[in-house]
Amino acid sequence: MKQTAKRAYGVVLASALALGSLTAATTATAKEFRLGLITPPPHTWTKAAKAFGDELKEASGGKHSVAVFPSRQLGNEAQMIQMLQSGSLDMAFLTIAEVSNRVPDFGAFYAPYLAKDIQSAARILRSDAAKDLLKTLPKKVGVVGVGYGMAGLRQIVSRDEVSSADDLKGKKLRITPFEPIKDFYNAVGVAPTPMPLPAVYDALANGQVDAIDMDVELIIKLKYYDHAKTIVESNHMMFPMVGLVSAKVWKNLSKEERAQISDLMGKHLDGVINTYTELEGPWLAKMNALDVKVIKAGPAFFTSAIADWEKIWGDKAPALKKLREAAQ
Ligand code: BEZ
Repeated sequence: MKQTAKRAYGVVLASALALGSLTAATTATAKEFRLGLITPPPHTWTKAAKAFGDELKEASGGKHSVAVFPSRQLGNEAQMIQMLQSGSLDMAFLTIAEVSNRVPDFGAFYAPYLAKDIQSAARILRSDAAKDLLKTLPKKVGVVGVGYGMAGLRQIVSRDEVSSADDLKGKKLRITPFEPIKDFYNAVGVAPTPMPLPAVYDALANGQVDAIDMDVELIIKLKYYDHAKTIVESNHMMFPMVGLVSAKVWKNLSKEERAQISDLMGKHLDGVINTYTELEGPWLAKMNALDVKVIKAGPAFFTSAIADWEKIWGDKAPALKKLREAAQ
């Protein structure tokens, strides 16, 4: 976006956002909303997006429906945020990775071992501190944050044998493209290699990367273990998702429509959190039953990397203090 256009957009949005809420339109028009996400059709997030659309159609008596575009059909997350800002995309379920690239305070969610287990991740995402962060999104990004979902905690899948973090040093390790995780793996001494989800299987299979940062659901469902000698069950980071609506689209919805969309999207996002709290344990059990060496790792595995991360992000992401309290 050109500087002048950016400024004009900021002014329009700032006035529309007076007192933190966009003025609701009084008339309601029928609409098929377009919702984009990067996950493939069988993924929990995609299923939740479809279920939200079905319920919205029913609750609105067929007036509103949702066309879901999975697997990056509409572009990557950075492109989808731009589309939400311009109003050419109505809704998206996105990792908070790209959001944290634009609002560094969201980087607080990626503090290593902020969540000590999946239940604590759920508590953090349902906390007032997390909800307060969503309130900053209309002004800072031009999107309305309806609520959070999540994926499982992060693990490491390696092509080679791994017994300690030293074995990962200098190796190319795939990460989801965002700053806080890049800083973490730089501190570990690996070469973090940003790569979108659809490219990961082949990259691990053909040795383009030596290891990947991934959650247990996808390790199993997308068979990332096919080309692995070791899985490090480290649970080192939570992985939030956020349900977004374009602020431009939101502005043209009536009060009733906004309430209906918030309620139903919020319900299905929260259902995603429930899915992971219920299934993370069984998925981990399945992972441990694979014909692959699994080593358990905690904060000590990463030696000084966690403190190094904190030195960079402690000031950049002041929300961390309150999220830590919520994790207890
Ligand atoms: C990933 O980039 O690893 C990822 C993205 C969305 C859902 C789960 C994992």
